[in-house]
Amino acid sequence: MARVAVVTGGTRGIGEAISLALRDAGMSVAANYAGNEQKAREFTDRTGIRSYKWDVSDCEACQAGIKQVEAELGPVDVLVNNAGITRDATMKRMTRQMWDEVIDVNLGGCYNMAKAVWDGMTGRKFGRIVNIGSINGQAGQYGQVNYAAAKSGIHGFTKALAQEGARAGITVNAIAPGYIDTEMVAAVPEDVLQKIVARIPVGRLGRAEEIARGVEFLCGENAGFITGSTLSINGGQHMY
Ligand code: CAA
Repeated sequence: MARVAVVTGGTRGIGEAISLALRDAGMSVAANYAGNEQKAREFTDRTGIRSYKWDVSDCEACQAGIKQVEAELGPVDVLVNNAGITRDATMKRMTRQMWDEVIDVNLGGCYNMAKAVWDGMTGRKFGRIVNIGSINGQAGQYGQVNYAAAKSGIHGFTKALAQEGARAGITVNAIAPGYIDTEMVAAVPEDVLQKIVARIPVGRLGRAEEIARGVEFLCGENAGFITGSTLSINGGQHMY
């Protein structure tokens, strides 16, 4: 039977490309989204992939969402924690609310979702969890203390959970994308973005499909010995 995969933030941007890649790899995909109903409906009409609305920063909503997916599609064997937001501002202007929102969605969402699938995965002795971190969690970024902290947290979360899942056949890995051609990056002021692209050795923004390819690789049946790793896909912008 096809593996069931849940992709958070799975109807737009990088998440959309991940949903499609996992579907094309033969999985039964549930694409989660939080807000944009119209985009989600268009996505489902276009792709045939079911979309499910819940807020990943709400722990109970994640439990209920996974219950619904499992009732409709079957046990969840693959989780991609992709949902993320930005609230960019320098420290001087960043409010406590901007900090909390980004930490709660980007990092809290990883805990909430992993918690919701963990008992099932350990019980069945199989799981693939891929968390989408960021180059800005590895290297920091001016104007992003909230986002960099959350994404850096994701990298630590990945390595700790990988240790807990290893004996139960659950791999936990992260991808650290660089600047990818999505709405999130398009929101960066044009002059700032130009300077960033000038520092990418490959000389362009990445494509969402180039991240999805990495996710599919890490979710493969034969990827069981890859765990606790971070795959950087950033056009050479940051090497470590
Ligand atoms: N290093 C040093 N100084 C910098 C700087 C940098 N990287 N960026 C800006 N500054 C300086 C500016 O030169 C400016 O200095 P002056 O006043 O002396 O000219 C000062 O900081 C203020 O800059 P802005 O005019 O841009 O200030 P602002 O308050 O209007 O905006 C900001 C600040 C919101 C941080 C804006 O610069 C910004 O949006 N930057 C981009 C942040 C970014 O890269 N976000 C990534 C989003 S995509 C993403 O996150 C996906 C992913 O995972 C990669």
